[in-house]
Amino acid sequence: MEIAVVTGGAGFVGSHLVDRLVAEGWRVWVLDNCSTGSWQNLAHHSSEEVVRLPWDVSEPWPLEQLPSRADVVFHLASPASPVHYRRLAVETLMVNSMGTKHALDASLAWGARFVITSTSEAYGDPQITPQPESYWGHVNPVGPRSCYDESKRFAEALTAEYVRSRKLDARILRLFNCYGPRMQHEDGRVVPNFVWQALHGQPLTIYGDGQQTRSFCYVSDEVEAIWRAAVVDGLAGEVINVGNPEERTIRQFAEAVAAVAGVPLTVEWRPLPPDDPTNRCPDISKARTLLQWEPKVSLTEGLKETFKYFQRDV
Ligand SMILES: NC(=O)c1ccc[n+]([C@@H]2O[C@H](COP(=O)([O-])OP(=O)(O)OC[C@H]3O[C@@H](n4cnc5c(N)ncnc54)[C@H](O)[C@@H]3O)[C@@H](O)[C@H]2O)c1
Repeated sequence: MEIAVVTGGAGFVGSHLVDRLVAEGWRVWVLDNCSTGSWQNLAHHSSEEVVRLPWDVSEPWPLEQLPSRADVVFHLASPASPVHYRRLAVETLMVNSMGTKHALDASLAWGARFVITSTSEAYGDPQITPQPESYWGHVNPVGPRSCYDESKRFAEALTAEYVRSRKLDARILRLFNCYGPRMQHEDGRVVPNFVWQALHGQPLTIYGDGQQTRSFCYVSDEVEAIWRAAVVDGLAGEVINVGNPEERTIRQFAEAVAAVAGVPLTVEWRPLPPDDPTNRCPDISKARTLLQWEPKVSLTEGLKETFKYFQRDV
C-alpha cells in the first residue's frame, strides 16, 4: 500500500487531497497544528485510513511517530488567506522556511517524492497577464503580504536547490485561487466572503473599483492536478501553475455569486488594501502538457456546491 504524508491535511485543500488519497487506497499521515484548519475536516475518515498527528511542522519532526517509509510527501501547511497570514505573520514565514526544510529532509530520508503547494502570490502584483511559470514576478519584499509571498518564494528556492544538489524528486505547484466546501466563512477570501454575505442578505464587499481580476478554480479540479503531479513520472524540478484560466473582474464575480444566490447584487465599496494584486490569471500550458490537466467544473456548478456547504451554518 502506498503511503503519503500530508502537512496541512486538516485544512481546506489538504482535507480534499486526503479524501482523494484515501479513495485511491493510500494510507495517509497528516501533520497539522490546526492554526487555520480543523480535524473536523477529516472526521469522516477512520484512524486506519488517516493517522492524525497534531504537530507544528516548523519544529523538528517527531520521526518516531511517523511511518518508517513514505512514497510521497505533500507539503501544504501554511496559512493561505490574507486575514490568517497577517494574524500569523511570523508563523507563516517559519512554516514556509523551517517547515519546508523539515519536509524536504524527511522526504530525502524516506526516498519519497515531494510535492509543495506554492502560490500565484509568488508573482506578486504581476506586470504581465496571463502569468507563465517563467515570469519572475513583481513582489514587494517588505510589504504586508511579504510574509506569505516571500516565504513561498523561499520555499520554492529551497525545493529547487534540493532537486539540484540533493537529487530529490520534487515538484512545485503554484496554486491560483481555489474555492469550495470547507473554506471558512471568516477567513477573508473573496469566495467565502461573497457567498456568506449573499446567504445573509448583506451587500457584497468589493475593495477598490472591482476592476481587479481573479480566476477561480474549484477544489476538485485543483486536487486532480495535485494528484497528477504526484503520480506522473519525470517531473523533478518542474514548476507548474494550477488554476482556472477564465479571468473575471471582481465586479463580474460578484454578479455571478448574486445570480447563483438568486438575489439582486448590492455592493458595499471599500478602499483597496495595500499591495492587492491588480490581476491574476494562470497560463496553464505546462499543466496541460505535463499533467494532461485542465479545470472541468464551471463557476456556476462550483458556486452551487459552495453555497450548499455554507447553507449548513445559516
Ligand atoms: N486555497 C487557495 O486558493 C490557495 C491558493 C494558493 C496556494 N494555496 C496553498 O495551498 C495550501 C493549502 O491552503 P488552504 O487554502 O487549504 O489553507 P488552509 O489554511 O485551509 O490550510 C492550511 C493548513 O495548514 C495548517 N498549518 C498552518 N501552519 C502550520 C504549521 N506550522 N504546522 C502544521 N500545520 C500548519 C493549518 O492548520 C491548515 O490546516 C497552502 O500551502 C497555501 O499556501 C492555496
